Amino acid sequence: MATVDGHIEAQKDRFLNELLDLLRIPSVSADPKYKTDVARCAEAVKQRMEEAGLEKVEVCTTQGHPIVYGEKIIDPAKPTVLVYGHYDVQPPDPLELWDSPPFEPVVKNGLIYARGSADDKGQFYMHVKAVEAMLNTGGLPCNVKMMIEGEEEVGSTNLGLFVKANKQRLAADVVLISDTSMIANDTPSINTGLRGLSYLEVEVTGPNRDLHSGVYGGAVANPINVLCDLISSLHDQDRRIAIPGFYDAVRELSAGERAELAKAPFDEEAYMNDLGVKALLGEKGYTTTEHASIRPTLDVNGIWGGYIGEGAKTVLPSKASAKISMRLVPDQKSDAITRLFVDHFQKIAPPYVTVKVTPHHGGEAAVTPTDSPAYRAASLAMEETFGKKPIPTRGGGSIPIVALFEQELGLKTILFGFGLDSDNIHSPNEHYGVFNYMQGIRAIPRFFAHFAKLAR
Ligand code: BES
Ligand code: MN
Ligand code: MN
Repeated sequence: MATVDGHIEAQKDRFLNELLDLLRIPSVSADPKYKTDVARCAEAVKQRMEEAGLEKVEVCTTQGHPIVYGEKIIDPAKPTVLVYGHYDVQPPDPLELWDSPPFEPVVKNGLIYARGSADDKGQFYMHVKAVEAMLNTGGLPCNVKMMIEGEEEVGSTNLGLFVKANKQRLAADVVLISDTSMIANDTPSINTGLRGLSYLEVEVTGPNRDLHSGVYGGAVANPINVLCDLISSLHDQDRRIAIPGFYDAVRELSAGERAELAKAPFDEEAYMNDLGVKALLGEKGYTTTEHASIRPTLDVNGIWGGYIGEGAKTVLPSKASAKISMRLVPDQKSDAITRLFVDHFQKIAPPYVTVKVTPHHGGEAAVTPTDSPAYRAASLAMEETFGKKPIPTRGGGSIPIVALFEQELGLKTILFGFGLDSDNIHSPNEHYGVFNYMQGIRAIPRFFAHFAKLAR
């Protein structure tokens, strides 16, 4: 019988082509016009999981997009790994900025270009192929449960309900997720934390109709001007968030923990060059790496109002709106921060406008200890695959279901991600390295092997 590694190397071309087929399905969860494509993608994932040798594979319907679940129990006495991933993707817009169509994957210079290539189809599919390789070579050393959802990019609300309703079925010893990035292809790292999220929309209304900006301008408050004033008041001189109580629950890291994180290599010049900026801006007293991982943020994600068509139209608009996200850190609670924001924003609204604040989805931050058998297994698996011990880092993104896995199933998560921050996830020309894809497929069976031994 072939070895796990032998199977992987021999099947490399097929593994790549199967991923390309999956990337051709536009499974955009946010936009209802893709609903049948999302459903078709769930069916495709189910079929692939069955072909890989998983059992009891099922497309579980929800109030929204379906969840695909399958498992292989080799021995109930052995440890169980719960693999989670998502087959839904972000909308591809703006389409005109893509060099090739987002759902017609191309491989160029070793990179797979397509929406979802890195986030998360290319990463969850590594697990399907790793399981195939283990099952085909008699090398599955512990039990595996696999749950791939279709609503991660829209907040995982229905998955939350599914987890609460299926605690027994999902019982495991650890959660394994590949949906994050590492420092570089020659600098492997493992995320030991994710930020939480609070997301809202604000609407500022002034006069009851759009006005001529000459006839009324100067006498009546312009909602766009007011919205800009309100938004700029949300940060102080030190770029701290000026909402009373915002930092109250923040668990500050010790000097030792910060020193540990600072050991990760980071080239600020290269970072700025890559982004095309001459300077950076962040909270006083913290480093760039800290700004983007262990500190909370407030950002406007979109802002609109008034006339945005061709040419000039003189108008003093009736309304202005913005979408605002706050990234949260332990132990800030999403609901509490949302409430703080709503109250504060209502309070600072001047009498010449009315404001409406509408909360969207949120999620809690999460941290993973580095002294657990699961972390050690992940670290060893990465070291064997890359020839270097991975560096623990804190991630800046959010995967809200991770905190729920801990709360509902009592499970810690290993963020076994193989992407790079430069993969352009959520952006035009998203891509994922063939190298990264294959390294993931090689590393996952090594994690299973170590975990089976260490978790006993
Ligand atoms: N995979 C990302 C999260 C991520 C990316 C974490 C890179 C760490 C490094 C995930 O699909 C995502 O985009 N999450 C959303 C949150 C969700 C509620 C829309 C996010 O972070 O904005
Ligand atoms: Mn993702
Ligand atoms: Mn995403």
